[in-house]
Amino acid sequence: MRNERKILVTSALPYANGPIHLGHLVEYIQTDIFVRYHRLRGRVCYYVCADDTHGTPVMLKAEQEGVSPEALIATVGAEHARAFADFGISFDRFGSTHSEENRRLSEIFYTRLHEAGHIAVRDVEQAFDPVKGLFLPDRFIKGECPRCHAEDQYGDSCEACGATYTPNDLIHPRSALSGAEPITKRSTHYFFKLKDFASDLADYTRSGSLQAEATHKLDEWFTQGLNDWDISRDAPYFGFRIPDTEDKYFYVWLDAPMGYIATFWQLRNALEGRELTPEQVCAQWGEHEIHHFIGKDILYFHALFWPAMLTAAGFAKPSAIHAHGFLTINGKKMSKSRGTFVTARAYLDCLPPEYLRYYLAAKLNGAIEDIDLHWEDFRARINADLVGKLVNIASRTSQLLAKHLDNALGETLVDAPLYEEFLLAGETIGRHYEARETSRAVKAVMDLADRANRYVDEARPWEIARAVQRRGELQAVCTQALNLFRVLIAYLKPILPQTASAVEDFLGGPELTFESIKTPRLGQTIKPYRHLLTRIEAADLRPLAGDTAEPSPKPTRPKPAPQDARPQTLTIEEFGRLDLRVARVAHAEYVTGADKLLKLSLDLGEERVRTVFAGIRGAYEPDALIGRLVVCVANLAPRTMRFGVSEGMVLAASDGEGPFLIAPDSGARPGSPVR
Ligand code: 2FM
Ligand code: ZN
Repeated sequence: MRNERKILVTSALPYANGPIHLGHLVEYIQTDIFVRYHRLRGRVCYYVCADDTHGTPVMLKAEQEGVSPEALIATVGAEHARAFADFGISFDRFGSTHSEENRRLSEIFYTRLHEAGHIAVRDVEQAFDPVKGLFLPDRFIKGECPRCHAEDQYGDSCEACGATYTPNDLIHPRSALSGAEPITKRSTHYFFKLKDFASDLADYTRSGSLQAEATHKLDEWFTQGLNDWDISRDAPYFGFRIPDTEDKYFYVWLDAPMGYIATFWQLRNALEGRELTPEQVCAQWGEHEIHHFIGKDILYFHALFWPAMLTAAGFAKPSAIHAHGFLTINGKKMSKSRGTFVTARAYLDCLPPEYLRYYLAAKLNGAIEDIDLHWEDFRARINADLVGKLVNIASRTSQLLAKHLDNALGETLVDAPLYEEFLLAGETIGRHYEARETSRAVKAVMDLADRANRYVDEARPWEIARAVQRRGELQAVCTQALNLFRVLIAYLKPILPQTASAVEDFLGGPELTFESIKTPRLGQTIKPYRHLLTRIEAADLRPLAGDTAEPSPKPTRPKPAPQDARPQTLTIEEFGRLDLRVARVAHAEYVTGADKLLKLSLDLGEERVRTVFAGIRGAYEPDALIGRLVVCVANLAPRTMRFGVSEGMVLAASDGEGPFLIAPDSGARPGSPVR
């Protein structure tokens, strides 16, 4: 059945005067997951974005670097495009607001607004730098805070006490560019009369195109009253000159959202192999559901100015504006001085992009909430979910299939109802993606991963593998598990596209989609298993974590003493007194009030499970341990701790890193002595 939905998606345009950082990536990753999900469901879904190239900061940065603004935006644009590609952001086109299409659109919009009487012209007085010869945006004026008297504060707000004010309120104001005292200068400005659209906007903002929190925020703004919007800036300015003026330029925020349409225009030209007219672009724009993903700080521009301008110019308004919150790192705002500012490139130098995609997806939802990237939590989550749960399903079963069955899958599914259950879950998971509730989608997939691991634990293929006459049974269990794994990877494909493509190669068959998994992979030979994802070690994070990183967990046991201080050697009899046993973790949980401990219930093949408190919380999530084999010191005298009695000890390696649990190979039986 053909799916008729046509969707056009955008992310906010990054400024062309700095690198892409993790704060940006929250939005691009959120948008990309939405886009990839829709494509996976067979919908036409275009994703466009561009560099936001105009304005005073870009002009000054180019001057500082001794290059033209055009040269600067070309270099930055290429860097941005590379960072996005490396994170798997699947734009159909990444353009620039400094394009001919964007100039034409800006002029068309302005002319239509002007002809319909929505532009006002009047003089305003502004701070002017007499040395540099330019009007100063608020951020370029510094001085003493009028409230707390902190020195060197910006013209719009004080970083020391949080006060907001206008540059006129600053004590001893100075130009941040030349140090000169700004003078007040008068000049003519052009204004967009937003009030003309008040009733239209009131309807629009309550039409369901915005999140509930956004509608409330806009209600506040309506109550305060809509003001005319200053859309012009005086020369010198890097941007587009306003028609019929000598020295007036469109303010960067006028032509920035226009960049959405201009880039869509370029995309359509490329796809159709011809130059579309503005009328054709306008018509095509209107044929799509338009989704803008933005940060909460630019809601005003997107939910008020932008729909008003679109209406005035005869273009369709966005179907939906999806705002998200900010990213904090280890609970704090990203900051260069605190060393918590992480660029996309710095991250990529340390870790695979899909780990960040997964972690953010596991935290994002459809609300306007800030999210925190806590590096230790990040490590624990990736290790537990992706490595411990997801990949574990494939690695434990495909290795058995390789060793005993030449990688050949069976002809049927031994537990078809379970497979059907997994397929059914796709409905709900799809709804979560559509609603941008990616945290719920991830949770649903991880619940299925637990189910698949339980299936393997119960089927015990490592035991079946011991009997040559049970090869058929072994093949059936591995085939079932690998097919369940395949379904999970299809569900995660919008989040983990590279991993999904590696799994497509490993299992073979058609591309993974919500549709193609309805046919399980049977009767075929798969490729030998290669590691898909590996654990993150504490050391991997060190370059990223800055000085706010928590100290790595202290070793749970003292470091090995130097050679000459080693304890006396043991006799074999003494060693024999140590009762080491294989144990299976039957249950694991956090211990309230103990930040290092996990409470483990260990199955040692005895009548009852034993409770052991282990200092491994820094490295393992409880859920990921359930079902794992460990080595337990079984004859340690019970020890009464603050949280209960510990009836043994699990062995782990640790020399400041880790701890790393010592695990017997799969197949070892709980209770077996370790020799
Ligand atoms: O806030 C910003 O980073 C802007 N460069 C976003 C522009 S989005 C759109 F309107 F172009
Ligand atoms: Zn202050």
